[in-house]
Amino acid sequence: MNIDQAKSRIDVLTAELNAHNHAYYVLNKPSISDYEFDAMLRELQDLEIAFPEMAAANSPTKRVGGDITDKFEKVKHRFPMLSLSNTYSQEEIIDWENRVKKSIQGEIEYVLELKYDGVAISMTYEDGILVRAVTRGDGDVGEDVTTNVRTIRSVPLKLHGTGYPQSFDIRGEIYFPHAEFERLNAQRADDGEELYANPRNTASGTLKNQDSKLVASRGLNCYLYFVYAEQLPFSNHFDSLTHAAEWGFRVPKASDRYIERVNDVDGIMSFIAYWDKHRHDLPFDIDGIVIKVNRYDQQRQLGMTAKSPRWATSFKFKAEKVLTRLNEITYQVGRTGAITPVANLEPVFLAGTTVRRASLHNADQIEKLDIREGDYVYVEKGGEIIPKVVGVELSKRDPNSFPQLYITHCPECATELVRTDGEAQHYCPNEYGCGPQLKGKIEHFIARKAMNIDGMGPETVEQLWDAGLIDNVSSLYSLTTEQLLPLERMAERSVEKLLEGIEASKSQPFERVLFALGIRHVGETVAKKLARHFKSLEALMLAGKEELLHVEEIGDKIAESLLIYFADDRNRAVLDALVAAGLQFTMADNTADGGSQVLDGKSFVVSGVFNAFSRDEIKDLIEKHGGRNVGSISAKTDFVLAGENMGPSKLKKAESLGVPIISEDEFLSIINQDREG
Ligand code: IVH
Repeated sequence: MNIDQAKSRIDVLTAELNAHNHAYYVLNKPSISDYEFDAMLRELQDLEIAFPEMAAANSPTKRVGGDITDKFEKVKHRFPMLSLSNTYSQEEIIDWENRVKKSIQGEIEYVLELKYDGVAISMTYEDGILVRAVTRGDGDVGEDVTTNVRTIRSVPLKLHGTGYPQSFDIRGEIYFPHAEFERLNAQRADDGEELYANPRNTASGTLKNQDSKLVASRGLNCYLYFVYAEQLPFSNHFDSLTHAAEWGFRVPKASDRYIERVNDVDGIMSFIAYWDKHRHDLPFDIDGIVIKVNRYDQQRQLGMTAKSPRWATSFKFKAEKVLTRLNEITYQVGRTGAITPVANLEPVFLAGTTVRRASLHNADQIEKLDIREGDYVYVEKGGEIIPKVVGVELSKRDPNSFPQLYITHCPECATELVRTDGEAQHYCPNEYGCGPQLKGKIEHFIARKAMNIDGMGPETVEQLWDAGLIDNVSSLYSLTTEQLLPLERMAERSVEKLLEGIEASKSQPFERVLFALGIRHVGETVAKKLARHFKSLEALMLAGKEELLHVEEIGDKIAESLLIYFADDRNRAVLDALVAAGLQFTMADNTADGGSQVLDGKSFVVSGVFNAFSRDEIKDLIEKHGGRNVGSISAKTDFVLAGENMGPSKLKKAESLGVPIISEDEFLSIINQDREG
């Protein structure tokens, strides 16, 4: 294929993929199968690798992410991002509407919208192309998160139709849909990771993540709520939004009652009443409704206060709160032995669900609020998924009740609890004899990011544990068909699958095994660093504190924890059994598949576009030859590997810190030299 042919094929694929994305994510009407879509996307990706000069910044391939940003550039907003006045009281809405009526002669139309509970974003389009997406920041200056926003499928990279201004800003709210949020948390639970508390904060954290691939995988979405330009072709807000839909933007639909036009305060109140009742049925969070004067000339006439426009305001819903009886406080023991007190409540309906349990956090919280069993307590569900107890109704307290005594011994194994100074949580120190801790260790071991044992989940662990077939991670490797078949839900096929999964896990690389062991403070990244540094379990076990502290990112806390772990005979027995079972306790030899150690320990920052490789391929090559990839340039970086179009800020930083910049050719000659030699 020559370059002209490539260009026309790239244009065709780009146009088609953009149209299918719009049909799927904005119109909710898929126009082709996922399989066909993926095939087209892959074809475009391949063409862009072969003809990198043709790869447009707004190509649909950018939606899958890939670039690691080392820092977000600060950008000044062309039009400041204002905030809205807000109130929880309907009277104040009436006052606001009266003020508007006083300042404006003639008919007034209000546009009512949902107040999406996410993160504000301002996007600039020039000649129909998305050129920049910036967070609110302080309202005047925000951060450039374009690479991340491009991964949001409902955001058009190139506009449809005609009639849009040559240059304009469009603003909206990026949010985490409930379904995606629950999927993410389910996966985290699976991986033994802490759950995210609420969709809003997670949306904000995701948008500021440096890895756009991760952002792409999260399924954020966006509703647009305002168009800004020097000169708009419409005379009111509603028409602008309606036309924005024709250009490809996802805007609220009147048919869903997400947006409505009314002429008076009664209309406003009925919209508020409707959404106060129905907001919990929405597939995303809102925290109120927004009221805007529709006509631009009237908006101008009303003007602004210091921070917010007079032509708009918002009504916020109160976090819902109910009173119910606290029947009992029970205590949960986590994988690490941490104790969490839980309020068992008289079931009560709150914000769309029946609540039976709420978190009490820790002993201090119980003491601070003076919460006692038998009390009537207020339970609130704000942005958080897990409801919390926020106070006690003292007038309903039994006068003979006593302040709550916190437990002193583990509810599972009766060991005396410990609480380290400065820590909020009590711990059960019986790591090797306390059921939930032992089971938790096995659950962590089998999780996706650890040994990834197919066909096995927390319920299987529970079942095998109850049947007395496993008591630590090494017993998984001696399970037999005869033991498993008699168990409930264990048909021949599932037993086979389970045993295959266990067998396959024996080839998981050393770094994963190390992570799977669940040594306190040894997470995924630390496990990787240790595995690469020591290369074998034997070497790691022989290392003293000094040597451990020499490894990058290993501090006192981790070093101590490793020493304690390896000094314990019970752990050594488990490790012996795992070695005997055939798990990987040494680093695979790079040199077998064309790799080497020529870049041993050298750190690289990869930037720009390469000729012969994709960015991921280049990174793999670095690791294959013993080097390390790091996200951002610092004085400690050994090399910057620069492709074409390397970002100017990175270039400047590398130069100012004196970090050597090498080209793709230079890099290849270093690694090939070694291969030939
Ligand atoms: S209009 C000048 N409309 O609420 C008008 N804002 O304090 C600018 N928000 O952070 C805002 N839903 O991100 C508008 N339908 C909606 C909105 C909305 C949510 C957020 C916005 C801003 C805050 C206003």
